[in-house]
Amino acid sequence: MRFLVTAGPTREFLDPVRFLSNPSTGKMGFAVARAARAAGHDVTLVAGPVALRTPLGVRRIDVVSARDMLAAVEREDFDCLVATAAVADWRPARCAAAKLKKRAMADTLRLVRNPDILKTVAAKFAHVRRRKVFIGFAAETGEPSAEAARKCREKGLDLVVANDVTAAGSGFGTATNRVTFVHADGRIERLPLLTKAAVARRIVRFASQTAAAAHR
Ligand code: C5P
Repeated sequence: MRFLVTAGPTREFLDPVRFLSNPSTGKMGFAVARAARAAGHDVTLVAGPVALRTPLGVRRIDVVSARDMLAAVEREDFDCLVATAAVADWRPARCAAAKLKKRAMADTLRLVRNPDILKTVAAKFAHVRRRKVFIGFAAETGEPSAEAARKCREKGLDLVVANDVTAAGSGFGTATNRVTFVHADGRIERLPLLTKAAVARRIVRFASQTAAAAHR
């Protein structure tokens, strides 16, 4: 299968020296890319600014902003899209050409919504036969499965991997993750605390099983 994986944060610049972002390190997405490659798949990784080495045999496209990430994803063909990126939901309405003066900043920082990459791309393929597999993440503070089920429906996904980023051993920058798989049919699978590599292997297995079932 051809896997397309988004990973890391995005940066939304307000002037040449300042941006809005989040603490995503890209570990989960890089683990998915590595696991998919190890299982023999063809893998492209669209990565925001992160300090991680590209897994061997994986094609990597570096991007900065949410709009760059959307454009990169829209250029690629794939059988399964795994969206692990922590995309900034908002960006400054404009990026100033010169460094903003401190006193001018409070008045100039107007925000506009960024496109939802996963939702946009999933919607584009919602009606094709032998559909592609779409997997999203839901990072919540607190019990995540209700929000994840809503995201699964709203974005038209096959699976949402939900986690409580405030739980011990989960969230930004950790090597482990305690996640819940929320399926399109509403089924909920709570996984134990696992390494991100082990979570990644389960995601890849889910993707191949779903694709195989669709082609039967
Ligand atoms: O709605 P929320 O941002 O929590 O959804 C998270 C999921 O949607 C993740 O899989 C994330 O990668 C994806 N997403 C996206 N583009 C956005 C926001 C989220 O692809 N602008």
